[in-house]
Amino acid sequence: MLERLQKIISAAGITSRRASEALILNGQVAVNGIIVTELGSKADPSKDTITVDGKALKFNVQRLYILLNKPPGYITALKDGQGRPLVTDLLKGVADRVYPVGRLDYNTEGLLLLTNDGEWANRLMHPRHEIEKEYHVRVRGKVVDQQLMRMAEGVELEDGMTAPAVVNLVKSGEQNDWISVAIHEGRNRQVRRMCEAVSLSVVRLKRIRYGSLALGTLRAGQFRYLTEAEVRELSGEPAKTVHAAKPQREVRQTAPRPARPENQTRPVRSGGKFSGRR
Ligand code: URA
Repeated sequence: MLERLQKIISAAGITSRRASEALILNGQVAVNGIIVTELGSKADPSKDTITVDGKALKFNVQRLYILLNKPPGYITALKDGQGRPLVTDLLKGVADRVYPVGRLDYNTEGLLLLTNDGEWANRLMHPRHEIEKEYHVRVRGKVVDQQLMRMAEGVELEDGMTAPAVVNLVKSGEQNDWISVAIHEGRNRQVRRMCEAVSLSVVRLKRIRYGSLALGTLRAGQFRYLTEAEVRELSGEPAKTVHAAKPQREVRQTAPRPARPENQTRPVRSGGKFSGRR
């Protein structure tokens, strides 16, 4: 059956549909040996030989769904011109190529999903699903309620107002406060820019939850496979057979950062919780 090339590429688990379009436009995709650069182009995966960077697509590969606790200092990309460490460098022993669902900044840490199931990744990233992501942010000095309230209600960024968020003060220290910020948008550097907009200086940023999935006790640099139930629950739709979920294995990598603020957090002020949502 003829299908759009970007759909075929993402179904083969190479990358998301949007990133597949970039591969096509960059001239990295060929059908039966002929480079195709037009986005509307179609092919028949059962008859045509489709290659990305000269490598033929494989179908019916085992679907992998991974939760990684990304340490700071790793880039959420499959290659980097500056030779910086890649998040995929941490996935020792993973049987197939997986790619990140969305991104975290180089210095942001915490929960990152990776998969080779393009359709699942597309569903998660689609704005229609509005999956809530929660971050813990260590900010320099003391926050005041008005700053949290402004972030909760929405702040003006260069790409428009942010949607209402849930913002909490979770811990107050000598030098720094920790706040939690839950958003369902996925704009570039959104939490950092929201903090900047209310004059908060970010010292550390960690994603601790993605929808129903919490980072839990996974240490920095470790990863685990999602269970089939987690895969289904996140996307809200039936997943393809998940072969990788059974082991529930945690592969230990080096743990560059010891602190785990989500385990230490406790409300310190009764007035520190703000929700801009109605
Ligand atoms: N918001 C940010 O500012 N950075 C991230 O990496 C994720 C969310």
